[in-house]
Amino acid sequence: MDHNVYKVALLGMGTVGGGVYKILEKQKNDMVCKIGSELEIAKVLVRNKGKYEDKVAPEKLTDQWSDIINDDSIEIIVEVMGGIQPAGTYIKEALEKGKHVVTANKDLMAVEGHELLKIAKANNCDLLFEAAVAGGIPIIRPLKQCLNGNDITEVMGIINGTTNFILTKMTEEGMEFAEALKLATDLGYAEADPTADIEGHDAGRKLAILASIAFHSPVTFHDVYTEGISKISAKDIRYAHELGCEIKLLGIAKNTEAGIEVKVHPTMIPSNHPLASVKDSFNAVFVHGDAVDDAMFYGRGAGALPTGSAVVGDIIDVARNIQFNCTSRIGCSCYKDIPVKDIGETKSGYYVRMKLEDRAGTLAALAGVFGSNNVSISKLLQKTKQGNTAEVVIVTYEVLEKEFMDSIAVISKMAMVKEVSSIIRVYH
Ligand code: NAP
Ligand code: HSE
Repeated sequence: MDHNVYKVALLGMGTVGGGVYKILEKQKNDMVCKIGSELEIAKVLVRNKGKYEDKVAPEKLTDQWSDIINDDSIEIIVEVMGGIQPAGTYIKEALEKGKHVVTANKDLMAVEGHELLKIAKANNCDLLFEAAVAGGIPIIRPLKQCLNGNDITEVMGIINGTTNFILTKMTEEGMEFAEALKLATDLGYAEADPTADIEGHDAGRKLAILASIAFHSPVTFHDVYTEGISKISAKDIRYAHELGCEIKLLGIAKNTEAGIEVKVHPTMIPSNHPLASVKDSFNAVFVHGDAVDDAMFYGRGAGALPTGSAVVGDIIDVARNIQFNCTSRIGCSCYKDIPVKDIGETKSGYYVRMKLEDRAGTLAALAGVFGSNNVSISKLLQKTKQGNTAEVVIVTYEVLEKEFMDSIAVISKMAMVKEVSSIIRVYH
């Protein structure tokens, strides 16, 4: 044999593991030409072997981690089982034994990634995780490598496919949230428990990873402010359109002079912004660097083959690094320790929909409260009137979140204010 064979173990054979298996099988012969080595799936770890006997040769299937960690011929561990434990322990043990790791696990990397990257470095190992953010879209490697000459000040994106699908259905077909969520579930986009997607936690985990890499400073999921889309109504989407905007669940990370901002929330963005045209379950990440200016990355953020594509790209990188004796070449890129700002210290424009008593002086009273909190109104629309109650939409200029929220706390207690129906941040 005149080429190397690198043995790979897959931890997990679900959606992503199945995609990785398929791609590696299909690419088997080409791999020798592409990277000068063969990638052989030597073992596949699952809990329930019976489920996988028609997909994987029985001698490769195992439900015992010890079969993998104690096999010195296996050099590359691909963790696609998900969850914090036992995945975290398996990755740590693999790295400590000098095995290289590729993972798609954003839940783990967003919380323990910095620690695991330190362990990888200490053991001269690779720990790559391209698939952990935005599935098939290359974004971690571009940030760590191609854009590394930049001072990146902003990373913003649609990084959850389920919520983007739901908002697209609400926008294009006038569906209410519950109906669109049911459709997302029926089509297999949303998981049986869709909480992490619709409450913005999945996007928050991905944003923590992106912010750490873009700003070279540790950010974890616990630092990220998250707000989901369950309170968005078809009416708000219609009114947003009248204001020339779309509503998207955005992850927004900024590196400002006063610290890092990391937040996930429904956001009104101008309809001509590139992210406004990202529809259905597609993802996109928008990056601003001082040298490159604006760059946008678009594609499929989930699914067996798109996510498998990112995982296999990482496996190939590891194999090349082993071959050229340069593993651990690109590890943790955090060399700063920048504080993360509280949401109250960040700035946004705000859209607020309210039901008010329709009588002289109501708007003047509201304007007075806003004015005394430094909130400046940019647009005001009176939408509907029922009896003596009027529905009013107010859009503000950019203002400090805590000043806006202070004014809402006062306004919501005023007798003439029947209801503060919804508040959505507006991107500036
Ligand atoms: P999945 O379909 O639920 O598959 C999980 C697999 O891992 C199953 O084969 C399961 O085996 C195995 N597994 C789980 N816990 C195990 C344990 N304790 N011991 C042994 N095997 C275990 O999950 P997935 O959607 O492929 O996601 C995998 C990872 O990729 C997650 O970290 C996820 O966040 C990430 N990711 C997924 C996507 C996507 O599109 N799905 C995209 C980007 C990233 P059994 O069936 O026997 O339980
Ligand atoms: N649940 C995620 C999404 C896919 O809807 O984007 C996995 O990252």
